[in-house]
Order: sequence, then structure tokens, then C-alpha cells
Amino acid sequence: MPILPATPEAIRQAAQALARGDIVAFPTETVYGLGANALDARAVAKVFAAKERPRFNPLIVHVPDLAAAELYAVITDTARLLAEAFWPGPLSLVLQKRPACGIADLVSAGLDTIALRAPAHPVAQALLAEVKLPIAAPSANRSGRVSPTTAAHVQAELGELPAMILDGGPCPLGIESTVVSVIGLEPGLLRPGALPREAIELVLGRPLARAKANHRGASPGQLAIHYAPATPLRLNVTRPEAGDALLAFGPDTPDFDGPTRNLSRQGDLNEAAAKLFATLRELDQMGATAIAVMPIPAHGLGEAINDRLQRAANRG
Ligand code: TXA
Ligand code: MG
Repeated sequence: MPILPATPEAIRQAAQALARGDIVAFPTETVYGLGANALDARAVAKVFAAKERPRFNPLIVHVPDLAAAELYAVITDTARLLAEAFWPGPLSLVLQKRPACGIADLVSAGLDTIALRAPAHPVAQALLAEVKLPIAAPSANRSGRVSPTTAAHVQAELGELPAMILDGGPCPLGIESTVVSVIGLEPGLLRPGALPREAIELVLGRPLARAKANHRGASPGQLAIHYAPATPLRLNVTRPEAGDALLAFGPDTPDFDGPTRNLSRQGDLNEAAAKLFATLRELDQMGATAIAVMPIPAHGLGEAINDRLQRAANRG
């Protein structure tokens, strides 16, 4: 039985499993991660194999804090500013990797940069404190599918492949971290996520560039098709059709008899982000012809929500 409640004893076992080169799923405040010792190339290879993830798509490395991050990456003034403001938390920073820092080359898919994040979830922090190793951890889903926000979702995605799934309950934020590149002159937003752009821009005192796919330090993982359920999605729908399942948002919803889930009746984007992936999974099971998605505002967490929905809709 690979799902274990995240007791101190289970966390100790998970740390031992990681140290011997096994892969372990664990909760973070954003989504569940599938972790491996980032210093161990064979362990990292198991993560790529379990996810069926293309090897050109690099992984995020989890560290307890900024002091640990300094071992693996060059921390510029801008990086320090952002890490001090938002770590631990849902921000991943793409940084210049320190040569000979011991991180397996496969983690960064051969790039000379590395994405680092200090997660805030108490189980993730306890695991990092126990294992005393950097943990490479992508979201614990099969490549191209919706990220898991519960231990049961991890099991549905990966079955018996992880040596253990630490169950810390549903992830409080429910959408992946914001990825910011601080390589080069202008900090750039590589992936909108659980930390709203506005909060980052306030600390920087200037707008974040939206990094292009061909930008140096761009995220190779940001393919247009990603995070897709099997049922086709239609976006910005105000009039759902027969056969649809409706993904609603806010208090004013259209008259509709079919299956309906509301991401937030109050129109709260934080609540909507936390429920997005679990609700997509649920609607995907309903045998609908399509999932019709109401318009969702683009500010705050709405940027990340709309990004994930657009990728899901791109599946054609
Ligand atoms: O919230 C999260 O970030 C979760 C939890 C588990 O921490 N992790 C996660 O990892 O979403 P993953 O592998 O699903 O997404 C990592 C993203 C990908 O878009 C990848 O291309 C990008 O980060 N990335 C990683 N290393 C990079 C690098 N050196 N340069 C540019 N992008 C990088
Ligand atoms: Mg992912």
C-alpha cells in the first residue's frame, strides 16, 4: 500500500527511500511532486521514466531555503530579492547553475541553468529537513496530464511506480508554482502560477517580461498542449449546449440542466485555482461531449487558471 499518511515516521521512511535512490510522491502547497535525489542521476531517470516525460523538459529542484539554494545556483541581487520576499512559497526561480555543484545533468535537461524552489508545505519542509538532499520533483502526473492535488490523484496517475506516496491531504493552492527566470537582464515570467504576477511586480518595482519560447532560459516544458483532460474543452462559453458538462465560475451562471461544477460561487480566484484540477478530473469522468468553461477573469490567479485552461483546450 503505497499511500501513507504523512506522519513523522512515514516522512522518515520517505527520506530513507529517497536517499537510497527510490522515487517518492509528496505534497507541496501547490500540487503533489514526484521526488528523487537530485544528486543521483539514476534516481532522476526513474522520475522521467515514471512520468513518460521527454528528457528535454527540465525538473524543478526543491530546497529548504535560500542558503541551500546558494549551493547549487548563482544568486543574483534580483534572485535574492524575490527569494527573500516569497520563499518558502509557490515561486520557482530559474538561475545560473553552479558548475560542479553535483546536481545530475539530466535534472536540467543539459541546460546550464536550474529551477529552484523552497516549498512552504510543512510535509515538504519536514521531508527536506530529514533527507538533507536537494529533491528534484516535477508534478506527480503522467506527462501532458493534469497535476495531482490529492494523494489519490497521484495513485490514479502513477499507480505503484512511486516507492511511497506521502498523504498530506489536498494541496491548499492547487495550481503549480510561478516560474520566473532571473537569467539575463530582465526577469521573465516563464509560467504563470500560484504566486500572482502582480505580487512579484510589486516587489521588483517593474513589470515582468513574458518570456518567449525561444528566449534563453525559457521553459522547454511550456508546450502549447499540456495539462489536458481526455474530454475536449471549449473556453469562454456563456451558453452551454446539450451534451456539455459545465465548468462554471461566479454567482451568475447560465440556465443549464447538464452536469455542472462551480469553481467559486463567490467569484474568488484563489478558491477557483485550488479546485481547478480536481474539478477537471471530475468533469472528465462524466462522459460529456465537451467541457464548457465559463469566462474567468485574467487578473491575479486568473492568469494561471486561464493559462492551464488554454493548454487543456489546445488538445484538439
Ligand atoms: O508547483 C510546482 O512547481 C510543482 C511542485 C511539485 O513543486 N512542480 C512542477 O514541476 O510543476 P513540473 O516539472 O511539472 O514543471 C516544471 C516547469 C516546467 O515548465 C519546466 O520546463 C520548467 O519548470 N523548468 C524547470 N527547469 C527549468 C530551467 N532550467 N529553465 C527553464 N525552465 C525550467
Ligand atoms: Mg507538471
